[in-house]
Amino acid sequence: MTTNPLRALTDRRLQRIAGPCGIVLFGITGDLAKRKILPALYDLTNRGLLPPSFSIVGVARRDIDVRSAVEQSVREGAKTPVSDTALKQLLDGVSLIVGGYDDPEMYRALAQHLRGLDETRGTGGNFAFYLSIPPRLFPVVTEGLAGADLNRGENGSWRRVVIEKPFGRDLASARELDETVRAVFPESSVFRIDHYLGKETVQNIMALRFANELYEPIWNSAHVDHVQITMAEDIGIGSRAGYYDGIGATRDVIQNHLLQLLALTAMEEPVAFTADAVRAEKEKVLKATHLFGPAETNSVRAQYAGGWQGGERVKAYREEDGIPADSITDTYGAMALGVETRRWAGVPFYLRTGKRLGRRVSEIAIVFKRPPFLPFDDISGLGQNTLVIRVQPNEGTTFKFGSKVPGSEMRLRDVTMDFAYGHAFTEYTPEAYERLILDVLLGEPPLFPQWREVEESWRIIDQVENYWESAPETLETYHPGTWGPAGADAMLAANGHVWRRP
Ligand code: BG6
Repeated sequence: MTTNPLRALTDRRLQRIAGPCGIVLFGITGDLAKRKILPALYDLTNRGLLPPSFSIVGVARRDIDVRSAVEQSVREGAKTPVSDTALKQLLDGVSLIVGGYDDPEMYRALAQHLRGLDETRGTGGNFAFYLSIPPRLFPVVTEGLAGADLNRGENGSWRRVVIEKPFGRDLASARELDETVRAVFPESSVFRIDHYLGKETVQNIMALRFANELYEPIWNSAHVDHVQITMAEDIGIGSRAGYYDGIGATRDVIQNHLLQLLALTAMEEPVAFTADAVRAEKEKVLKATHLFGPAETNSVRAQYAGGWQGGERVKAYREEDGIPADSITDTYGAMALGVETRRWAGVPFYLRTGKRLGRRVSEIAIVFKRPPFLPFDDISGLGQNTLVIRVQPNEGTTFKFGSKVPGSEMRLRDVTMDFAYGHAFTEYTPEAYERLILDVLLGEPPLFPQWREVEESWRIIDQVENYWESAPETLETYHPGTWGPAGADAMLAANGHVWRRP
């Protein structure tokens, strides 16, 4: 059978329902479980996408009233309306195992509990182990699971492991982590979450590029001047000091989310929308990605100072609770990358992320070259054609192009053409976590980065982080509510470019 890529892109999986199974949630009392994972499990239940017997087993070091905790998370975080029936269905399947992550007895009790669920709730031996815990605990937990033979299904049942970032803090530590996980679970059972890939707008990059005839012919260095990929937040680090300090914006966001966006933007067309085909293209393009020039002039990092944001006085990063007064962790990171392929040679891809910036926005802007000749007198209002993929908020796509201003002169100005999800579709947009958790339960891996992609991403980031470590003086500061440090503007100015102010 020949593979029709357009047919392959028709993804109807959200109408599919997970078979009998359960999820074992390590870190059920953590922030991510409360804010994202548990509400997503409720939304899936409410939309009828989980089996009636679906079971959630929390693992915690201390005893808690787990059903009340789950209910509270659902009430605070669910995207769909909270119905008594769906909530009851979810809560009926919730249980807790108490014990230390390093205690073999806990894993034995867990194994026994899961066998019990197979009998009482018909989970069929199918379980996903979700590690929403600090990475230093991954080896302890995966070894504990293996010690109780929990990593292998029997009689055709499946076992999968879901891993949250940060997946290491550099290439060496990521490799070490990967080895400990893969000593216990085969790569095909490892689901690494990059929640950006669960976003509709991110999946739409592939549809936009490969389901249309318009863009592909100009999607290359002959027509594209440069690309800007931005993930900006207006919030500070909140209560995440323990996780964030020593990690920083570049490892937290560029290493995973932004490099995945770059890969989807720059990759060649996959032969089908299958995990292996998509990953092969992403891996290839990441392999070809390097700093655009020396780290000195192609990378910038900075930290937010104290000041005013949105009428509110906000602390400097170094004054936040739990942050050392001499911390040199970056809360802003930017870099210029080049993709060394025939398609992209010479085109800078600028990536930036930061906390306490002007506003919350994630977008990819493809900035096209100017026409080689412009036969008009007044072109002062004319910029460069730009295609902006708005990942969030106000999800959609905007195309900016030149147009004649009405009147007797030939005066030109930029105008925009807009596509907004909210106007074009009435369908429900699932939260990223909803989509990704369902894919784990269905065993569908196309939206999960494979180890080789993670490895290439760390190779790129290590080059920058190593340079920064050797040159502490490179840390700049920026004021809250602005668009980052002066060095980031200078980095683009060196190539005659300017950051967008989204
Ligand atoms: C997470 C980062 O991966 O993404 C956080 O660890 C960041 O620092 C978050 O706040 C942003 O996610 P979103 O979906 O709101 O853009």
